[in-house]
Amino acid sequence: MAIRKVLKLGDPLLRKPSKAVPAEEMRSQEIKKLIRDLYETMEVEEGVGLAAPQVGILKRVIVIGTVPNSRYPNQNDKIRQQALINLEIEPATKDVEGSWEGCLSIPGMRGYIERPRKIRAKWQNENEESFDEIIEGFEAVVFQHELDHLNGILYVDRLKDSKLFGFNEELERLAEDGKEGGKGKERASASKQPQ
Ligand code: NI
Repeated sequence: MAIRKVLKLGDPLLRKPSKAVPAEEMRSQEIKKLIRDLYETMEVEEGVGLAAPQVGILKRVIVIGTVPNSRYPNQNDKIRQQALINLEIEPATKDVEGSWEGCLSIPGMRGYIERPRKIRAKWQNENEESFDEIIEGFEAVVFQHELDHLNGILYVDRLKDSKLFGFNEELERLAEDGKEGGKGKERASASKQPQ
């Protein structure tokens, strides 16, 4: 296993579309090693999701999942650990829900993003098993955020209001000072983990 370097905003590889993994590659040693490395890198970086293009590999491979760590002590938003290969998503509702998102490729910052609250997701895993599920809540945010990475999209592209974007420490200070009022406080303190 190896910890890989996570590419940061500005690296052109983060803006390129990733290629689907063909069936014959699905169970290859190369994909298995990539998945192991993604898990290990995600754990060290304390993220809840990591997409292959974030480590410079333009393949449609994602790992997600929470393990208890300092950023995630209470596991309120527990997410199953799994690899998502060739993930496809369609909205399962017209309702959108907003949340503060972070990204391991944009360290120390977060932004307020609205996305469909409920999605239908299809994917395969490293054993070539197929899944087709309705997903909602925080898990749906993570699925959609990671799928964006496979299409060269970062959450900053989806900011509706550039004022709802900033450094974690500043947003937290604002929340503590109550300068944004109750709503701002609630929003800033409801921040999610880097993805
Ligand atoms: Ni991300």
